[in-house]
Amino acid sequence: TRTVWHKGAFMPETEAQVSIFDRGYLFADAIYEVTGVVGGKLVEYEGHAARLQRSLSELGIPCPLTPEELLAVHREIVARNALDEGLIYLQISRGPADRDFVFPAAPEPTLSLFTQAKRVLENPQAERGISVISLPDLRWARRDIKTVQLLYPSMAKMQAKAAGADDAWLVEDGTVTEASSATAHIVLGGTLITRPLSTAILHGITRASTLDLARAAGISVVERAFTLREAQLADEAFITSATNFVLPVISVDGRPVGDGTPGPVTRRLREIYIADRL
Ligand code: PDD
Repeated sequence: TRTVWHKGAFMPETEAQVSIFDRGYLFADAIYEVTGVVGGKLVEYEGHAARLQRSLSELGIPCPLTPEELLAVHREIVARNALDEGLIYLQISRGPADRDFVFPAAPEPTLSLFTQAKRVLENPQAERGISVISLPDLRWARRDIKTVQLLYPSMAKMQAKAAGADDAWLVEDGTVTEASSATAHIVLGGTLITRPLSTAILHGITRASTLDLARAAGISVVERAFTLREAQLADEAFITSATNFVLPVISVDGRPVGDGTPGPVTRRLREIYIADRL
């Protein structure tokens, strides 16, 4: 059994309980963060902590802990679980309140953290690359807030699996927004092309780092929306996320991207990211 943090204390996972009136449960009125852990160290903690505060302020959910306490809990949960590699999941809901669409006047947010041990560095998918199918983006329009409303991304992933693919790229008004739980990118003529930040996508922490590292390595970066057709005709495609870092995409809707193997720019960015951020 893992040791989790729940409502202000560390406890065995079997003891952590949530009210059936919790607004996270009734309304998906909750936000989350996923921070990678490699060699017992937090990956890009500052970025995740900053985005957490932004998600909370967009929804008006008060944070139960100070930034210093939050960092201390992250460090201690890694230590208590002897976590070498994997992730920390953090969730804050607005907390329990009698069911009402109106927010409670005095919320008591529920903060929980748990760890998941998982090999994230040695990933066979990084060597092989992943295949994706396209699906319409049917999520709500505030994807910049990292809420736990993940039913559609979950359905999209299931549809991808049923089609024999690894993941889905979501399309809205003819352009790719994101993958089901990662940022989507393509490489065309040596240039990294990625959708600009807006309310249409999550502001990926790994995305921001990857763009910085690409520019520093002399790879040109253009932030613009791209179509599915462009992705299929691109030289390379890849996704970024906290647990995948930089992961090659080798086919889109059954059509190989480039020569259908992980491309040189993607491989280089993965190496640079791992060398610099882990
Ligand atoms: N997902 N876009 C979406 C929709 C995501 O859910 C995620 C992360 C990202 C990448 O963001 P970042 O680089 O900050 O991890 C983009 C997490 C890992 C998850 O839901 O498990």
